[in-house]
This record gives sequence, structure tokens and C-alpha cells, in this order.
Amino acid sequence: MTTPILSVTDLCKTFRSGGGLWRKPRQFHAVSSVSFDIQAGETVGVVGESGCGKSTLARVVLRLMEPSSGSIRFEGEDIAALPEKALRPLRRRFQMVFQDPYSSINPRLTIREALLEPFRVQGVSLTTAQEQDTVDRLMAMVSLNPVLAESHPHHLSGGQKQRVGIARALALQPSLLVLDEPTASLDVSVQAQVIQLLQSLRGQQTLTYLFISHDLALVRYFCDRIMVMYLGRVVEVMPKGATPAHPYTRALLESSFEPDPTQRRSIVRITGEIPSGYDLPPGCAFQARCPKAQDLCRQTRPELGSVGTRHQAACHFPDSPLPDTQTPRSGTAPSQETPHAV
Ligand SMILES: Nc1ncnc2c1ncn2[C@@H]1O[C@H](COP(=O)(O)OP(=O)(O)O)[C@@H](O)[C@H]1O
Ligand code: SF4
Ligand SMILES: [Mg+2]
Repeated sequence: MTTPILSVTDLCKTFRSGGGLWRKPRQFHAVSSVSFDIQAGETVGVVGESGCGKSTLARVVLRLMEPSSGSIRFEGEDIAALPEKALRPLRRRFQMVFQDPYSSINPRLTIREALLEPFRVQGVSLTTAQEQDTVDRLMAMVSLNPVLAESHPHHLSGGQKQRVGIARALALQPSLLVLDEPTASLDVSVQAQVIQLLQSLRGQQTLTYLFISHDLALVRYFCDRIMVMYLGRVVEVMPKGATPAHPYTRALLESSFEPDPTQRRSIVRITGEIPSGYDLPPGCAFQARCPKAQDLCRQTRPELGSVGTRHQAACHFPDSPLPDTQTPRSGTAPSQETPHAV
């Protein structure tokens, strides 16, 4: 097998808060022991409810935020502890598209300036003719009318701004694009157009996507493989089209949307109390919301383990494809499971 474009092992991010004269600082586990590989050309989805750690994972993976521990290998090189100076030339090869196109583009820049900014930041000097070619090429790539190049962001619609965000991210021809809920702040009809654009870009270029969304139906439609997060941990990894094995993913799917993006409703909350990331209970973090919870779930945290071909779940009693769901999955007690989710 070829070297994965991205290989993340045991990645953790904790936030400290509070603490004072009489109180100890508390630790919030936003991302806990996350491991996964992405092969070049793959589209991997990360899905979970708001607050489960998706954006933190994205930012830590791209070193926009420092990891607390763990390794991040990008094209074979461990970037987790690389000093910023050494990281800078690598940054052009991995880029991020943010959820909010309104705040991700400097309002004082014209679209032309915004599109040329990544070159300036990377110290790539372009002639006037090269600048014009670059702006024309990038605008065409994301199907934006070239007359908008001299406009400021506030003259553009949300969808147009997100196209600028995508063009900027692609300006330096990265190999990995991390998309953090790129359609979540857009109107439903515009969401479908942006998804179509991302699909067509994926076809034209050798791009690898890490696609983050709270929308399981969208992720199942768009991605080759799906990682489901719950309270900072990956609880299921499944190939496209697989039936979920983890009760949380099942619940997400049942409360999910119409596959037709124009018919979307917002997610229905899964019932039950969500524990705090500060004080996670022993055992499975989903126990208070899980209809299948048993004593074992309250005592022992389930590790990710195989439930099918390229399919893993962190559950003592995963749903089919295992036939007897009331028998604990073998090897779920504190285990030596393989650290990688693929
Ligand atoms: N800088 C921060 N300081 C403290 N807590 C944070 C910080 N950033 C995120 N969090 C917390 O980490 C959790 C995960 O946040 P986030 O990664 O934004 O989740 P998601 O993108 O899945 O909605 C949330 O509870 C959030 O409040
Ligand atoms: S380990 Fe137990 S509580 Fe957790 S998801 Fe599986 S069945 Fe539910
Ligand atoms: Mg987020």
C-alpha cells in the first residue's frame, strides 16, 4: 500500500479552563485519541453533532491549533511538532475551507487581492500578467463571473463568497483540502451548487478531501468513507453505503435528512443527556442516550474494533452486520486494537 497522504495517530486536544487560588484547572477533552489514515484521492467525511470536536480536529490536523499529543504525518512527514518556520512551505500543500465565508475573507480586500493573498503569504512573486492569469483561472475554476474580481466581499452573496474561499484554498494547488462544514452557513439551494462544484473539482484535479459536516446524509452522499465522532472520539468508521453498526450513528441516521439538499430540515436531537467533556463517565460516553446500554457499557469504554470489511465501531453491542447483537463483541474489553481506524 502507498504511504497515506495523511496519517493521524492518537491525536488529542485538551483545553484547560478555570483554576484559581482554590480550584484546580479543569481539562476539556475536545479530541481524544483519534487515529486515521487518508489515501491520496480519497474523500473522507467526519460527522457528528455540534460540539463533538470536528473543527478542533480539523484545526489541529492542519496545525492551525497545537495538538496536546499525538502524531500527524502529512505525506510521510511528522508535522505535529514541526516549528512554524519549517511548516510554512508545507502549508501550501494542505489548505482549509472554513464554514463561515463571511469572516474568512478580509473585508478590506477585493476578490482579486483575496485570491492573490496566498501567493504573497507564501512569498511567491508573480508578474502582473501572471497575476491576471491566476485570478482568471481561479475565478473560472469556481464558476465566478470575472467582473466580480474588483468587488469587495460584501457585494457578494454567501455562495459566491464560499466559491472565493474554495478558490483561495486551491490557489497554491494543494494536495489535501480540509472542508469544515463548507455549506452549513448557506441557503439550501446554494448548498447543492457548492457540493456540485466540490464534486467537479475533485474530478478535475488530484485532490484529497477531509470533509466535515454535522449532516450524515450529506456525508454519506459525498464521501468514500465516514468517521463518526462523539464527544471527541471516533466511534465508527464505515465505507460508503455501509449500514451503521454503532447505535449513535443509527440515531444520527434516523434523525437525518432528506438526501435531496433542497428538502433539508435541521437535525432532530437525539434524546438523553450528553455528558460534559469535562467529566466523562467511565465506560461508553453514549451510555446515557443509548437504548442498548448494559452494565458492561457503564464499566468499560469500548475501543474501535472491526465489525465488517473496512468497517469499525467502538461499541460492545454493535448492530448488524454481526448477527447476535446482545453478545459482547470479542476483544472489546480494554484491548490491543490496532490504533489506526483504517
Ligand atoms: N479554544 C477553545 N477553548 C475551550 N474550549 C474550546 C475551544 N475550542 C473549542 N472548544 C470546545 O471544544 C468542543 C468542540 O468544539 P468544536 O471542535 O468547535 O466542535 P464542532 O466543530 O464539532 O462543533 C466544544 O465543546 C467547544 O466548546
Ligand atoms: S457500548 Fe453500550 S452504551 Fe455504548 S453505544 Fe454500544 S451498546 Fe450503547
Ligand atoms: Mg465546527
